[in-house]
Amino acid sequence: MLSSLIFTLLISNIIALSYDQNPQISKKSLRNLAYCNTSCQCTVSFTCTSCSNSSYYYYPDTSECYQSFYCTQTYSNGEIYTPDPTNKVCCIRNCATCQNNGNEDQTCFTCLVGYYLPSVGANTCNQCNSSCYTCNGPNSNNCLSCVAGQILLNNTCQNTCPSSGYYISGNNCLNCDPSCKTCNGQTNNNCLSCPTGVYFYPNNNSCQSTCISGYYINGTSCLLCNSSCLTCNGPSQNNCLSCPAGQYLFQNNTCSSTCNINNGYYIIGTNCLQCNSSCLTCNGPNSNNCLSCPFGQYLFQNNTCSSICNINNGYYIQGTNCLQCNSSCLTCHGPNSNDCLSCPSNLYLNLNYTCSATCKTNSGYYISFNSCLQCNSDCLTCNGPSSNNCLSCPSLVYLFENNTCQSTCNTNNGYYINGTNCLRCNQSCLTCNGPNSNNCLSCPFGQYLFQDNTCSVTCNTSNGYYINGTSCLKCNSRCLTCNGPNSNNCLSCPSSKYLF
Ligand SMILES: *[C@@H]1O[C@H](CO)[C@@H](O)[C@H](O)[C@H]1NC(C)=O
Ligand SMILES: *[C@@H]1O[C@H](CO)[C@@H](O)[C@H](O)[C@H]1NC(C)=O
Ligand SMILES: *[C@@H]1O[C@H](CO)[C@@H](O)[C@H](O)[C@H]1NC(C)=O
Ligand SMILES: *[C@@H]1O[C@H](CO)[C@@H](O)[C@H](O)[C@H]1NC(C)=O
Ligand SMILES: *[C@@H]1O[C@H](CO)[C@@H](O)[C@H](O)[C@H]1NC(C)=O
Ligand SMILES: *[C@@H]1O[C@H](CO)[C@@H](O)[C@H](O)[C@H]1NC(C)=O
Ligand SMILES: *[C@@H]1O[C@H](CO)[C@@H](O)[C@H](O)[C@H]1NC(C)=O
Ligand SMILES: *[C@@H]1O[C@H](CO)[C@@H](O)[C@H](O)[C@H]1NC(C)=O
Ligand SMILES: *[C@@H]1O[C@H](CO)[C@@H](O)[C@H](O)[C@H]1NC(C)=O
Ligand SMILES: *[C@@H]1O[C@H](CO)[C@@H](O)[C@H](O)[C@H]1NC(C)=O
Ligand SMILES: *[C@@H]1O[C@H](CO)[C@@H](O)[C@H](O)[C@H]1NC(C)=O
Ligand SMILES: *[C@@H]1O[C@H](CO)[C@@H](O)[C@H](O)[C@H]1NC(C)=O
Repeated sequence: MLSSLIFTLLISNIIALSYDQNPQISKKSLRNLAYCNTSCQCTVSFTCTSCSNSSYYYYPDTSECYQSFYCTQTYSNGEIYTPDPTNKVCCIRNCATCQNNGNEDQTCFTCLVGYYLPSVGANTCNQCNSSCYTCNGPNSNNCLSCVAGQILLNNTCQNTCPSSGYYISGNNCLNCDPSCKTCNGQTNNNCLSCPTGVYFYPNNNSCQSTCISGYYINGTSCLLCNSSCLTCNGPSQNNCLSCPAGQYLFQNNTCSSTCNINNGYYIIGTNCLQCNSSCLTCNGPNSNNCLSCPFGQYLFQNNTCSSICNINNGYYIQGTNCLQCNSSCLTCHGPNSNDCLSCPSNLYLNLNYTCSATCKTNSGYYISFNSCLQCNSDCLTCNGPSSNNCLSCPSLVYLFENNTCQSTCNTNNGYYINGTNCLRCNQSCLTCNGPNSNNCLSCPFGQYLFQDNTCSVTCNTSNGYYINGTSCLKCNSRCLTCNGPNSNNCLSCPSSKYLF
């Protein structure tokens, strides 16, 4: 202990002697003050371990307490004492803060600018590599800062910061987020450009390998769609490729929640598409996808619209529809085969409004202006609607000359039967078997039937005829008058003959 004190005093003396050469400070003069007085915490006499008065700094080489002034000197041997105001110590060997353990035994906490602590608890600060302004070890070239004009990159000082992957913050050249190619800050929202094949999102200055839904690609950027779109291929409201839920995509690539399906548009999936201009409403793009037509037009069965419905040839109107007649009809008022109003020229219109190729003219029907009409029920065949339009009659019924049919033929009075006809006798006859005046079978009251089947009111009984009942008969040619048919029935003779 004593020897160490002597050694210390000796060393102090040598140092003090060398300080004597410093014109400013005489260490020797200080040396005389080396007491352990009230400002000094002593371990042994004259040796301070710390200073008890806050105005004093512990002086390492002499282990004394001095006012701070003496601690801020570069001494003549070049050694620098540095005041550590916190610990009230004059640090040495380039420490900025330290704890002095006496006799220049110190523990460095921090170093002066340009020096670094090589390890925790070291008693010396080492000089940084000259490329650093400050450094932090463990090596001399682990720069913490650089001299003006240089920039700190990866703990080294450089003239420039690489243009790609780094950004400048103060005097530091710092790594960009790995997602960025270039940046202006450390996060993945500080990108200025992106690596090849990666999209730049200007909205948050980030980089992503995909351009997500709701954004569109422009060059290498991924830009926000117009808010009306779900997906898009450009910035405007008419660049939509799809729409938010509940909205329709129009053909002009806009989105809207309403699709005017009542007027010119139709829906397919989530698309609102334009009808063909000929339609009012539709279910598809073509002229034959109409569901209804503009005012004044007709909807056809093939879902087309037209202002003309050919009701004169195969069509009929129902509401605003122009519908096809049954193919058997020419005109009609409905779809069925029995809705015909007229028929094609080769067909007949029946009473039940059907058209058919045949008209049963041999059985109760007749043709009038291409219609097949019913005969009067009296007739079998006819040429008109009335009971006197018969052309033939049912069996057991007679056709009269006035084209009526009757079941009885008055053969007792003026008519005769020929086949199924009931014909009028010559008016000179009462009954007959033919049409002529010589077809009489009997004669009206007061008339005579002659042998040639004619009738007459006069019978020339004075000259060759005789009366038998209602008949006027010829005498035998030998008689002038007679009362019978034979030669022996003469009542008188011609002038040249004699009656026997
Ligand atoms: C204590 O030492 C200081 C110098 O370090 C000196 O100025 C002061 O007079 C001394 N006090 C006493 C009581 O000796
Ligand atoms: C410390 O020293 C200074 C100067 O010698 C003196 O003025 C002061 O009173 C002292 N303080 C204490 C707490 O002793
Ligand atoms: C200083 O650092 C540079 C670059 O890091 C290196 O080349 C050089 O050798 C270092 N000098 C010393 C003395 O370590
Ligand atoms: C910076 O340090 C990292 C990690 O040690 C290294 O990958 C990179 O190449 C260094 N940058 C430069 C420019 O030296
Ligand atoms: C940037 O914005 C896009 C789109 O909104 C998003 O997907 C991405 O997560 C954001 N990136 C960052 C880093 O915030
Ligand atoms: C892409 O961006 C360029 C430049 O900003 C612009 O002129 C162009 O119109 C954009 N293209 C699309 C499809 O948005
Ligand atoms: C897109 O089309 C719809 C429907 O035709 C129309 O209402 C709308 O005005 C159009 N928008 C643009 C921007 O052209
Ligand atoms: C649709 O039907 C109408 C009437 O039958 C016809 O005139 C028209 O040619 C048809 N159109 C199409 C596209 O089939
Ligand atoms: C309509 O009348 C015709 C001719 O009388 C007949 O052939 C046809 O069966 C009838 N059709 C209907 C549906 O009544
Ligand atoms: C047709 O002639 C018959 C016999 O002459 C007669 O009885 C009937 O009244 C006539 N009918 C008509 C409608 O003329
Ligand atoms: C009866 O009718 C047939 C056919 O019309 C005719 O040839 C014949 O002469 C008629 N007979 C009498 C007696 O009228
Ligand atoms: C008159 O007619 C009747 C009946 O036909 C006949 O029996 C009679 O012999 C006839 N008399 C004479 C004279 O011809």
